[in-house]
Amino acid sequence: MNVERVRSAYSAIADVYIGLFGTSRQVHAADLAFIGRHLAIRPGGVLDLGCGPGHLTGYLRSLGVDASGIDLVPEFIDHARAAHPNVGYRLGSMESLDVADHSIAGILAWYSLIHVPPRNLDAVLAEFRRVMTPAGTLVVGFFDGDEAGPFDHKVVTAYRWSADELSGRLARAGFIEVEREQRPSDGTHRPHAAIAAVMGGAPVQGGGRTFRRG
Ligand SMILES: C[S@@+](CC[C@H](N)C(=O)[O-])C[C@H]1O[C@@H](n2cnc3c(N)ncnc32)[C@H](O)[C@@H]1O
Repeated sequence: MNVERVRSAYSAIADVYIGLFGTSRQVHAADLAFIGRHLAIRPGGVLDLGCGPGHLTGYLRSLGVDASGIDLVPEFIDHARAAHPNVGYRLGSMESLDVADHSIAGILAWYSLIHVPPRNLDAVLAEFRRVMTPAGTLVVGFFDGDEAGPFDHKVVTAYRWSADELSGRLARAGFIEVEREQRPSDGTHRPHAAIAAVMGGAPVQGGGRTFRRG
């Protein structure tokens, strides 16, 4: 099962990942600004889904946000709790959240949807939609590409998206893009993109067409 593969792959390299990426100082300033611009929501809870070491949850909390983090990997959750004792973290999967319907004002999925196979994305976005309030905001960070497809990520298979394609999938799930950030490769890092989207309109039932609803 995909989730089990992802969990065991990150568990095996958790210490290395935490050392390389585990603080907000290691995050591009433009990304922190993007996340803060859209998810510094007060009042209302914000979930950092696939929070990894928990640094972005901690960053949101430093902005006064009622943020909490969820991840598959026990080593990440243990680290996050120790590094950010004032923040709540718990084990779980974004595919099935232990969260009441329409109770969450914002969701951050920063490089965590990258491991969701495209065929499973609609179901995950439907789960996001279930827990979010009607005016909720979703922020997604991902590897940018010309088209959607898998690649050999260092940890476990990941999927890149073209920003237009992912925006279309978000729209199909009822999330309307409000801002996009793109940064080309600098030779070290892969091309990056982020999309902020708000709940709007009804999800499109069935079919493969992508379009936005106002
Ligand atoms: C590339 S890391 C990103 C971690 C963190 N958001 C960051 O920016 O450093 C991907 C994370 O997503 C988590 N993840 C992947 N699939 C998940 C799922 N179905 N539910 C919860 N977490 C998941 C992994 O365990 C891992 O911590």
